[in-house]
Amino acid sequence: MCGIIGYTGGGNAAQIIYEGLKNLEYRGYDSAGMAIMENGACKTVKSCGRVEKLGASLRFFGGHTGIGHTRWATHGKPSNANAHPHTYGRITVVHNGIIENYAELRQRLTERGEIFLSETDSEVIAHLIDGFYDGDLIEAVIKCADMLKGSYALLCLCEGKEEIAAAKCRSPVILGLGENCNYLASDMTALAGKCKEVCVLEDGDFALVTPLSAKIYDGGKREITRAYLPNLAEPSALALGGFPHFMVKELWEAPATVKNTITAFCGQKDLIKSALSGVRRIVFTGCGTAYHAALAGKRYIEEFAHIPCETDYAGELRYKTLNVAEKTALIAITQSGETADTVEAARLYKSQGCTVLAVTNSPYSAITRIADVVVPVAAGAEIGVAATKSYSGQIAALYMLASLVAEKEENFAAVAEMPKLILKTLEKIDIYATARLCAESSGVYFLGRDIDYAVALEGSLKLKEVSYIPGCGYPASELKHGPLALIDGSTLSVFVITDPDISVKAEGAVEQVLARRGKVAVITGLPGVKHDLKGRAEIIELPRCDKYLSPLLSAAALQLLAYRTAVILGCDPDKPRNLAKSVTVE
Ligand code: AGP
Repeated sequence: MCGIIGYTGGGNAAQIIYEGLKNLEYRGYDSAGMAIMENGACKTVKSCGRVEKLGASLRFFGGHTGIGHTRWATHGKPSNANAHPHTYGRITVVHNGIIENYAELRQRLTERGEIFLSETDSEVIAHLIDGFYDGDLIEAVIKCADMLKGSYALLCLCEGKEEIAAAKCRSPVILGLGENCNYLASDMTALAGKCKEVCVLEDGDFALVTPLSAKIYDGGKREITRAYLPNLAEPSALALGGFPHFMVKELWEAPATVKNTITAFCGQKDLIKSALSGVRRIVFTGCGTAYHAALAGKRYIEEFAHIPCETDYAGELRYKTLNVAEKTALIAITQSGETADTVEAARLYKSQGCTVLAVTNSPYSAITRIADVVVPVAAGAEIGVAATKSYSGQIAALYMLASLVAEKEENFAAVAEMPKLILKTLEKIDIYATARLCAESSGVYFLGRDIDYAVALEGSLKLKEVSYIPGCGYPASELKHGPLALIDGSTLSVFVITDPDISVKAEGAVEQVLARRGKVAVITGLPGVKHDLKGRAEIIELPRCDKYLSPLLSAAALQLLAYRTAVILGCDPDKPRNLAKSVTVE
């Protein structure tokens, strides 16, 4: 959701910012731009579309201080005028977030005779700071922040000054401490390989960096200190390493993710166990893929530990009446750790005295600062917009969490078997024929029962996200209650059947689709299902495994199916249209 980066030091700012923006592009790719301070004046370049379009202009820049932005449009269509940075008077800004009161502010400034050049909410920030500026940039930024409602991570340049000011409220800002240079960025990936230490700004913090100093202030302009932490961003996570896309690279990293998640989880076992001891009710939450992992988490807890559970989308949960009479724990699942809906739901439950656990692979993220305990997912950075390995890590972590609460640690042995079974799945399955069917279909429906239904939802999200083919996920039992009306010869129904106890029922639904001339693909590890449907449906065969761990295999197959379909259709699976990796606005 918009990537921002600032650099000040002895290097070529334009080149450094360009590289940083390329690493941040997964946060938004509607337009990009940068502003570089040269001889006391701010020089700007912007372009609609991808960051690489800025590449041709780099040779025109020679300054050592600058800011850059890659945009995911919220207010105003993707266009050169709406691309950041925005300049007014002496001030140039880039912004990630949403200024909720921008219309009112804009009207006030317009009445004062100020002219706006874009449709964005962000442009008011440049106007306000310029209005407050009286030789002290950080003071002007603090005064401006006082007037803003909403969320912002903003970086600001002022003519004549080799310094960058920053402000943070509900959107992340990381300060990177380099040698004779300093950075500010919306996330650590932009700083991979650039500096050894980072500071994570808190809401209400302001920062002012020059090549040789980095100061953090509170809203009263008092200097404050924040912990220096090691920069954990790995340059290797940002390289394709021989793969054509991050989505497929990261899919193949699922076995290592599960293996490393087991080790990381075992290191936190005691903390997790004590956080959940005596809990009478568990609420699982997340968005998108993380929500689908939550559905599996609920089943694990119910099945192994017999504790009542609920799930809800984080964006819905936070606006519902809270029922925290019993000892309630919230388990918030988020890859980025910065998803606004999930972070705010966690903040709300925490404020009501609930125990909050965060299942995440982003160690310094907002959710980790709210949670009582972090349940680690050792996936490293995930760059492809479509979640792949992070889902695998979340499933493994939730399965172990439920086993721990239920005092069934012997279950961990089954998880330890999964990395090699995921690898076997990826190496052996033949998905091309089904991907071709998907690519030709007018709609693709994903069906399953119980835990397979949770995976069906994930398969459907993944396919829509990267290939734009319409469809949805349903419990196979619901087919006859409505969705069957959609089935004809132009549709494909993908069944996930991994539970031997109810496979006959799921096969019944397959027959109902076949009877309506619908095409069918079946993902299964059950030999009986394969035998019954051979020759009548595409069969995608999985290795046999514990039914509750089967999402690790069936979801890998569905992720691969979505990926192959996107490639057949010529879609970019790493940067699906209209989307961004981390959704830091509501
Ligand atoms: C998954 O493929 C999506 N890109 C999306 O649904 C994602 O899972 C969701 O936005 C939640 O993100 P988070 O895990 O970073 O909170």
